[in-house]
Amino acid sequence: MSTRASSRYDAIILGAGGAGMMCALTAGQRGRKVLLIDHADEPGKKILISGGGRCNFTNLHTPAERYLSANPHFAKSALRRFRPEDFIALVERHHISWHEKTLGQLFCDGSARQIVAMLLDECAKGHVELRLGCSVRAVDHADGTYRVSCGDETATAPALVIATGGLSIPKMGATGFAYDLARKFGLAVLAPRPALVPLTLGKDESLFQSLSGVSADVMTRCGNVAFREAALFTHKGLSGPAILQISSYWTPGEEIGIDFLPQLGSAWLLDAKRSYPRSALRSVLAHALPARLAEALAERSGLKGELANTPDRMLEQVQRRLSDWRFRPTGTEGFAKAEVTAGGISTDELSSQTMQARNVSGLYAIGEAVDVTGWLGGYNFQWAWASGWVAGQAL
Ligand code: FDA
Repeated sequence: MSTRASSRYDAIILGAGGAGMMCALTAGQRGRKVLLIDHADEPGKKILISGGGRCNFTNLHTPAERYLSANPHFAKSALRRFRPEDFIALVERHHISWHEKTLGQLFCDGSARQIVAMLLDECAKGHVELRLGCSVRAVDHADGTYRVSCGDETATAPALVIATGGLSIPKMGATGFAYDLARKFGLAVLAPRPALVPLTLGKDESLFQSLSGVSADVMTRCGNVAFREAALFTHKGLSGPAILQISSYWTPGEEIGIDFLPQLGSAWLLDAKRSYPRSALRSVLAHALPARLAEALAERSGLKGELANTPDRMLEQVQRRLSDWRFRPTGTEGFAKAEVTAGGISTDELSSQTMQARNVSGLYAIGEAVDVTGWLGGYNFQWAWASGWVAGQAL
């Protein structure tokens, strides 16, 4: 990576995660002189741990409806201008092999390290200067110039990009720096909250507590949103993709519903009575669910005898309960376990075309720091790439 003596740049980017690196390489390759700063000792740490070390780097389907934001339209422009195909083309230019796992989720065949190496290589092509292990001491703005003090160096530029992410996983170096900086420049910040996060349950949810370690394909519902994926029972509550997805839409106090048998038809229990009249509910459930879960659900439903001896009305009632098992989480496992942070720098403050602050010239915010949060499955990286790319085009 080039080393330049001058401390005057065209743009200073704070945060060398996915969004910051994409922004830096895009601006650098357009001939801008870019300084990229991170307090961590290596760039892209979240990329490295993502997707179980294989980085779910994008999703084939990224409509704006799969992103949460106070302004559901905000993400459209960036997502349209930098598409999954654009990132795939970059990945292929670097001969990184990949595969679709499920639901349009694309992963490296090898390692997430390949994605970080690719981004660093592209940054080098754009002569981006990278400062790692560098804590920002102060950021000031006067006469159209941003001044960033970092280590024993002071850098200046007419543009400053906030790309320091959200609060998720503080032990990996996540900080509220983006929000503090945004507020310092008068930008509104919507309360950050953990998203894509396991949910916790109280002692009264004895059904779930006895099932720690069991996983099942379910449908989760909260309000009018639903996800069909796996749920995992944990000793603290519930996790797994279906729960992480619905957690982003859940607000404290709300109920969540689980359909334990989304693959079965609307009258499956009455059908089972006709086909297997001598069976008990537990053994019918065990055909479709893990044995421990089948047993626990049968016990809680109160049906003991053979289906043939149970009135249809009662079976209909049990089926309704199994297809909409209601519970009220006590909370979430918090930022320590949240894959992303929802909320953040208000999109009202930013241009959706460039990510530049409407009222603070030269100030930009991208990636997870902004109030745009994707579903589980490569959506958040696609937002990091897209928002970074559009800002990089504007610098
Ligand atoms: P990101 O947090 O990546 O980068 C911010 C950078 O700023 C970091 O390098 C940090 O060190 C630096 N920084 C913070 N404070 C600073 C300060 N004060 N001074 C200087 N630097 C500072 N998404 C997805 O699409 N597919 C996936 O497979 C996964 N998997 C996944 C697994 C796990 C365990 C987590 C926690 C998250 C994911 N994600 C994911 C989410 C994804 O990692 C996340 O949305 C992006 O990394 C966000 O990119 P940003 O660049 O915005 O922030």
